[in-house]
Amino acid sequence: MNMKNEYLKSAIQFAKEAGQLILENMNQSNTIQQKLNHADLVTEVDQLSEDLLRKQIKTMYPDHWILSEEATGQEDPFEIIKKEKSGIGWIIDPIDGTTNFIHRIPHFAVSIGIVNGGEPMIGVVYNPATDDLYYAVKGEGAFHNETSIQVSKESGIQQAVLATGFPSKEWKENSSVSKQIHALTGKCRNIRLLGAASLDLCFVAKGLISGFWHDELNPWDTAAGLLILQEAGGKVTTRCGQLYNLENRTLVASNGFIHDSLLKLLQF
Ligand code: IPD
Ligand code: CA
Ligand code: CA
Repeated sequence: MNMKNEYLKSAIQFAKEAGQLILENMNQSNTIQQKLNHADLVTEVDQLSEDLLRKQIKTMYPDHWILSEEATGQEDPFEIIKKEKSGIGWIIDPIDGTTNFIHRIPHFAVSIGIVNGGEPMIGVVYNPATDDLYYAVKGEGAFHNETSIQVSKESGIQQAVLATGFPSKEWKENSSVSKQIHALTGKCRNIRLLGAASLDLCFVAKGLISGFWHDELNPWDTAAGLLILQEAGGKVTTRCGQLYNLENRTLVASNGFIHDSLLKLLQF
């Protein structure tokens, strides 16, 4: 087995182990803490999942670096990403969609992106509640469970279902997201706020929706889904139209065909 496939196998195994642990704790009364505000939450299960993932990675790959949401605390993850350009690194969201998890909405995921020299090499997004596994290896296509996936062929924005979400610090009246939604209302088929950015990217990859945009995501939200979407034929840029990388703070993702129309509607 080549190294890339070995890393993929490990990432899937770790994501499934963390997923199992999350499910076991789903119907318990877990401790919930606020981070930035009453909409930005973390539970003890986020921490348990992260501890398990970090332990497994450190045991199997002691030379690899790890960037994970809860361990990062108040540090700026973009500064960490800028410094970590060499070697192999694991970028982890132990539960993406914590609010859904707390409310027992079965739409959340363990997200694991592996980068090599700063470039995404492997992406694994696993929703344990539905047992949906999305993954990709750079240059080898994207998969949902065992099936190869591609983006939708939709070329008109009027037929496109899109998704977005509120950055934690933007949960307030007159936020830029409200203005963006306003700008797109009536222009596309509809807009969804599904609550787990990693799965939004996988939904574009699978062609379930045709586009997704979001401001102020963190690298652990996008590292895995970015590669899965690119390998499924999608396009990911900043809001200014530059190719997206993990140092960027705005993201516009699509099937490629509606990309220019979507970017245009988001320029104001
Ligand atoms: C959140 C989810 C959500 C997005 C938020 C993220 P978390 O991640 O991805 O979809 O809109 O901005 O913070 O906090 O549940 O890991
Ligand atoms: Ca997240
Ligand atoms: Ca999280």
